[in-house]
Amino acid sequence: MFLLNRHPDYRSALDPADVETLGPAGADAITAHLAQRENHRPTPLHGLPALAAALGIGALYIKDEGQRLGLGSFKALGGAYAVIRLALEAASGKLGRKLDDADMLDPAVRAVAAEMTFACATDGNHGRSVAQGAQLLGAKAVIFVHGGVSDERVAAIARFGAQMVRVPGTYDDSVVEAARVATERGWTIVSDTSWDGYERIPGLVMQGYTAIAREGLAQMPERPTHVFVQAGVGGIAAALAAQMQTVLGDERPFFTVVEPALAACIFEAARQGRPVKIAHGAPTVMAMLECYDPSPLALRVLYRAADAFLTAEDSDAVEAMNRLARPVAGDPAIVAGESGSAGLAGLLAALRDPQAKAALKLDANSRVFLVNTEGATDPERYTELVGLKPAEVAA
Ligand SMILES: Cc1ncc(COP(=O)(O)O)c(C=O)c1O
Repeated sequence: MFLLNRHPDYRSALDPADVETLGPAGADAITAHLAQRENHRPTPLHGLPALAAALGIGALYIKDEGQRLGLGSFKALGGAYAVIRLALEAASGKLGRKLDDADMLDPAVRAVAAEMTFACATDGNHGRSVAQGAQLLGAKAVIFVHGGVSDERVAAIARFGAQMVRVPGTYDDSVVEAARVATERGWTIVSDTSWDGYERIPGLVMQGYTAIAREGLAQMPERPTHVFVQAGVGGIAAALAAQMQTVLGDERPFFTVVEPALAACIFEAARQGRPVKIAHGAPTVMAMLECYDPSPLALRVLYRAADAFLTAEDSDAVEAMNRLARPVAGDPAIVAGESGSAGLAGLLAALRDPQAKAALKLDANSRVFLVNTEGATDPERYTELVGLKPAEVAA
């Protein structure tokens, strides 16, 4: 299913606060932060000319977040960054001097951070990032996961020294529970989704994601005509859409938000023209995108800066993972997890549907930019779906 954006705010200017957070100044801030992180390297942008030709489009590029900051997903850019920014702010207040990213490992900052506890809910990847940020500073992290998060994903977060809490219900239930407990105990909640009266911290998380657009646009040999980005609560999609709109203006690419058909809350909010929470249904294979309640901050941006909303089937995601793992001759092999491959899944779905293909103006001149948002963050599941171990793909 696809939907062109018909919201009354479509193509109107972004809210000035969102420009400040997600525009060029936001990308400058995360760039300055990354320069201080020990294991930071820009992630690769792969060209897939053979797949582009097979699909009948002009060019296809995929920004591969599979190794971002050693965490396996783009989420490495958001949670840890917000944790460090918040700890630096707290330390600045206590120490009475201005601190910046270069001070993050200063013993005085660590002493302040050691008194702080950061909490969040997660499907897996965001919690890993928050836990990594807390560990870097010697702060505590308490991470809430719902029943559907695999034991492997839980173990991967716990390895960063976080305390793990299992919550019955869905991701959205774990968000509510994390916020409740954190408020009660005076912990700092670092959520990747926003709610009424709570936007600054999710805004910082999303600011981290703008690095993908900044790096990607610099790496592309030509400006993209199309972008397909997957959404859970909409954070990465909104961060990329806002960054591209503020940097490229009218020259920005046609921006499509992709969601699993089984968890398409942003699609529904676009269809109804207002924020809605959708009913919890069967689980999707794109586990990290299994969200039923969009982030209001993300929606506000997407109503203005996204052009289309699209759903992909689970089978599209599995096909996309396999196409990336077993490339057409000449293209590189890419390890893309179930949710990582969702942008390509959306492109495949759009190209198969003549109406969607025409509405999204996809043709032989299209230069498409995608983000592989995660590698094999759940290696067992990856092998089940692709028939290869991640190491066999990369080899
Ligand atoms: C691998 C991956 N891709 C995409 C997303 C969607 O991001 P957002 O919730 O910001 O829309 C997530 C969220 O956890 C994720 O882990």
